[in-house]
Formats: sequence, C-alpha cells, structure tokens
Amino acid sequence: METFTIEGGRPLSGSLRIQGAKNAALPILAAAVLAEGQFHIYDVPHLKDIDVMLQILNELGANAKHTDGCVDLDTTSLSVSHVPDDLMGQMRSSIFLAGPLLARLGEVTISRPGGCLIGERRIDLHLAGLTALGAKMEEAEGYITFRAKQLRGTNIFLSFPSVGATENVMMAAVLAKGMTRICNAAREPEIVDLQNFLNAMGARIRGAGTDTIEIQGVPRLRSVSYRIIPDRIVTGTHLLAVGVAQGHIELTNTIPEHLTALIEVARSCGVEIKTYHDIMEVKSTSRPRAYDRIITSPFPGFPTDLQAQLMVFLAQAKGTSVIKETVFEGRFKHVNELARMGASIYVDLGSAIIRGVSRFTGTSVEATDLRAGAALVLAGLAAEGTTTVEQIHHIDRGYDRLELQLQRLGARISRISQ
Ligand code: EPZ
Repeated sequence: METFTIEGGRPLSGSLRIQGAKNAALPILAAAVLAEGQFHIYDVPHLKDIDVMLQILNELGANAKHTDGCVDLDTTSLSVSHVPDDLMGQMRSSIFLAGPLLARLGEVTISRPGGCLIGERRIDLHLAGLTALGAKMEEAEGYITFRAKQLRGTNIFLSFPSVGATENVMMAAVLAKGMTRICNAAREPEIVDLQNFLNAMGARIRGAGTDTIEIQGVPRLRSVSYRIIPDRIVTGTHLLAVGVAQGHIELTNTIPEHLTALIEVARSCGVEIKTYHDIMEVKSTSRPRAYDRIITSPFPGFPTDLQAQLMVFLAQAKGTSVIKETVFEGRFKHVNELARMGASIYVDLGSAIIRGVSRFTGTSVEATDLRAGAALVLAGLAAEGTTTVEQIHHIDRGYDRLELQLQRLGARISRISQ
C-alpha cells in the first residue's frame, strides 16, 4: 500500500506546467475507435484511468502505447465489441466506449461502469441517448447489449446536462444517418475538446460549449494527431494549494477562461491571481477571507470537482462559509477526515457550513475518492506537523505523480510504499 507523507507549514514557490486534462483525454481515446488508422495524441497524462482505457482498447483489438505523454494508437484491427467486465468496472469512463463501438461495429456489450463512490452515478441518460439514435438495447445477467445496423440522427433532450451522456451521444451520432441535435447538453470545456478532435477526424459538429450541439452524420472518419487541452481541475487544485499553504507560484499550460468561477471566489477571499496567455501567477500571504455561499453546478458554474479542495481553503478562512453540492449527492466524504485535522464543518441537507479555524493539525487520514484525496493533501500542506494520506491510489487516478508536482512547488511531500 502507498501513502503520502507531508510536512506542513511551508509556503509554496516555483513554477509548474499543468498536465493534460484527464476528462478530455478519456472520451477522446474512446472516440478514436470511430476510425481505422494511426492516431498520435499528445499531452495525455500518465494516470491509472488512462492505463485502464488503453488496456480496454488493446483488449478490443487496437494497439495502444503511451510514452512521455504521447499515446500512439492503431485502431485498424479493432474488432471486439464486448468491453471486458473487470476493466469496465474500474472506472466511470469505460461507459464512453458504448457510443463509438456501437457506431463502428454495429454492436456493443458493456456492464455497469465503476468510478469514484460520490453518488449513485446512474447511466440512464447514456442508455436513453443511444436507443433514441435507433439502437436496440437488451439487458441480461448484468450485461447491456446495443445493436444497430445504422444509427439515425434525431433530437435528444437531456433531462440533466450530463457530461458523459453528452459525449457518448456525440460519439454515436457522428456516423449516424442525418442530423442529431442534443438539447440541454453539458457545456464543459472537455466537450469542446472532444468536438474539436472529432471535427479534425472529419466529423461535422457545432455548438459544443453551448447547451445545443448539432451533429451532421458523415459516412466515415479518419485518424489524426491531436493535443489534449490542459486540466482545469489540476490547475484549480494548485491554485487552491497556494490559498491553503500561502506562497507565490507560476502555473503554465493553463486556460484561465476554464476557471472563471474559481478565480472569482479565490480573488474575493484575498488570493492574488494574475493571468497572461497560458500563464497563471498565484500569490497568497495570509489566511483567506470567508465566502458567503458557493453552489456547485454544471459548467460554467463552480465545478463539483473542485468542491473538496475549496472546502479545505475555506476551512482555514476568517469567518464562516457555506458550500452546497448539487451535482453528486455523496461528495462530502472528505468532511470527516478534515474534522480529524481540526476543521469545523457541519453538513446538513447537501450543504456544508464551514467555520474557519486558524490551523489544521497533522494526523493520518484516508482518501475516499479522487478529489477528496487531493483535498486532504492540500490540508496536509497547511497543517502543523506531519500528515499521512492513505489510499492514495484514488489520487493517482487523476493526478500525474502529484507528489512530484508539489515538490516542484517547494512542498515537503513524499510517496511511501509499505
Ligand atoms: C464527468 O463525470 C467527470 N468525469 C466527473 O469528474 C465530473 O465530476 C462530472 O462529469 C461532472 O462535471 C469524466 O469526465 C470522466 P455527469 P460524469 O454525467 O460524466 C447524474 C473527476 O473527479 N447522471 O455530468 O459521470 C449523475 O448521477 C470526475 O474527474 C444521471 O442521473 O458526470 C450525477 O449526479 C468525478 N444519469 C450528475 O448526473 C446519467 O445517465 C452528473 O453526472 C448520467 C449522469
């Protein structure tokens, strides 16, 4: 088992280049299934979830290699339509293979996906989207099989702007006959990246980043080379690390427009943030001010993936703040662990009331999911004494060697293998 050990109380300093976006790379790797040929995809972070996606693609008959951030992927011989159950269950993103495999092979068999335990994480919108495009769905013994000789474009309304369902429908619709219009689509930047990747392959999509996406079906697509956008959640995590531990850092390979909500909150709490092209300069020299109320919501609202990290920041603020989590019903698991470090947080009906304290105390805590784990690392950076974070495999799903990233910023953190 591996843990992180963190010596707290040191301000951060230094410069760090942000990794490519996990939540853009995963659907883009799945979308490569839609064409035969050689892909070269750059700035793909080395993460557990990426490894699982590449393992699935190899099991389906493709040939995938990942070296120094570049994925070389040959999808010519891909022919298997059944996604291996053991891999399907390891992450949420395995569901992204349903749309593209169905579109390419005319059939796909999946089981229920896995992923962070942050709520029920239903897939009804994915299933409804694929059947709306004309697929026949059968469910037996835990497997779901879709079949369709030819998918047909149609209008699809999503009852919730689901990121994954928007992406799955986009990928299934690119080879459908006719026009597909997705209404109440998710607007996340990773969906725009997927649109740009698919259009580079010869698709005809417009509207990603708005709540209506139009996909004009085309007969075939081609393989391409492509670079993944920077990871806005990793960027936000490091921005908040300075807010928590103080200091002055520079982040490069960022897209500040992807973090408008967080930048507004952090600035009003007293963090100095300067942006110039892809560079973000972050400085904090004192405890933050509290922030009245934050409600997580789909992009461009405050991202649920930064909720835990923001909570650590506000748990040290001067005053009381409230965070309401509206996207995932089970995403407050970090509260108990933070309380063990001295935080004063009360959860009631989906809202966390956070009374700021002046210091955390280092102790041993457990990561329960990816972003909760990252939040506990941030708390350790500010805590008095030593903090040990256990179950850090959760963190490795989304951060490419987080300890190396933070060491570059002057943090005293190391990975201990027991
Ligand atoms: C994506 O998950 C991200 N994962 C999540 O990031 C992120 O938190 C989430 O979008 C919201 O931004 C990837 O992109 C791989 P959703 P996804 O479908 O697609 C409900 C991280 O930390 N819902 O927008 O699963 C669902 O239960 C991860 O990097 C349905 O009810 O998110 C949830 O309450 C965590 N039916 C809400 O919608 C469905 O068919 C948002 O889910 C699908 C979703």
